[in-house]
Amino acid sequence: MRSIPVMTDQNLLVGMEKPDDAGVYLIAPDLALILTLDFFTPIVDDPYDFGQIAVANALSDVYAMGGKPLLAMNIICFPVKDLDVSVLHEVLRGGTDKMAEAGVLLVGGHSVEDREIKYGLSVTGTDHPHRVLRSTGARSGDALILTKPLGTGIIGTALKGEMASKIAEEKVIVSMKALNRKAAELMAGFEVHACTDVTGFGLLGHACEMIEGSDVGMTITSSQVPVFPEALEYAGMGLIPGGAYRNLDFRKGMVDMAAGIPDDCMKVLYDPQTSGGLLIALDATHAKDLLMTLLDHGVGGSAIIGEVTDGNPGRIAVRA
Ligand code: CO
Ligand code: CO
Repeated sequence: MRSIPVMTDQNLLVGMEKPDDAGVYLIAPDLALILTLDFFTPIVDDPYDFGQIAVANALSDVYAMGGKPLLAMNIICFPVKDLDVSVLHEVLRGGTDKMAEAGVLLVGGHSVEDREIKYGLSVTGTDHPHRVLRSTGARSGDALILTKPLGTGIIGTALKGEMASKIAEEKVIVSMKALNRKAAELMAGFEVHACTDVTGFGLLGHACEMIEGSDVGMTITSSQVPVFPEALEYAGMGLIPGGAYRNLDFRKGMVDMAAGIPDDCMKVLYDPQTSGGLLIALDATHAKDLLMTLLDHGVGGSAIIGEVTDGNPGRIAVRA
């Protein structure tokens, strides 16, 4: 069932016929525009942190396409009657600081009154059309690299319930605020076959999108997947966001979960992420080089988590 009509154009390189991170439109033989939009309600208490996270998250889809974000516009929903406007100023200060860090220019925006605060960006980036990285295109023999630990959804749920430790809170905020810029710049030095960013569908949901209907599958080794240890702990306490169950229901038919994988670990693999890391597929012979490069440049959560195979086309095997 499709509810949003799909438009096509000879210059629309990546549109809506298949899921991908952003739209890509050719404006010159050597120049493509990358367009994306994202906004959401606060997931942390501090408005300055929230502003930074919302911007890092909105820019991420451009980095996931291998592009460079250039211009942005604010999208703001704010309950003027219920919240002091200083809160909004802090959100926008966080957002603007993060855009400055990314080298992105804020050119405008729009705000509406709403019951709940929401913030995000529409983003315009660029790339050479031949260098645009889609989420599909992984090849048998590729290794998979993930650049940030999983667990922001579960820890966010624990935060809402005032059950999360201060250390866990600080760790996820640092991770969610971190731009995927460095990872994107470093992977540009390698022949990457496919890339996406891990967000609302969780690691397994986004991994499924990368290989659905293709002639390759994936094997993911759960013990190699970087995870915030607190996420496993809180998952064991039942602090699971509803989105993790929706992701599981939606994708479990494509996933072969090995016996012996603990339930808490499985839930982390489906945990919806905010401003998650990049999931990169490149030839296994270069994967260690890229991993070392990422670690050397401070993309410290990175790990090789599995491989692309032709043994289980269109499916994902998760082994312990
Ligand atoms: Co994305
Ligand atoms: Co998005």
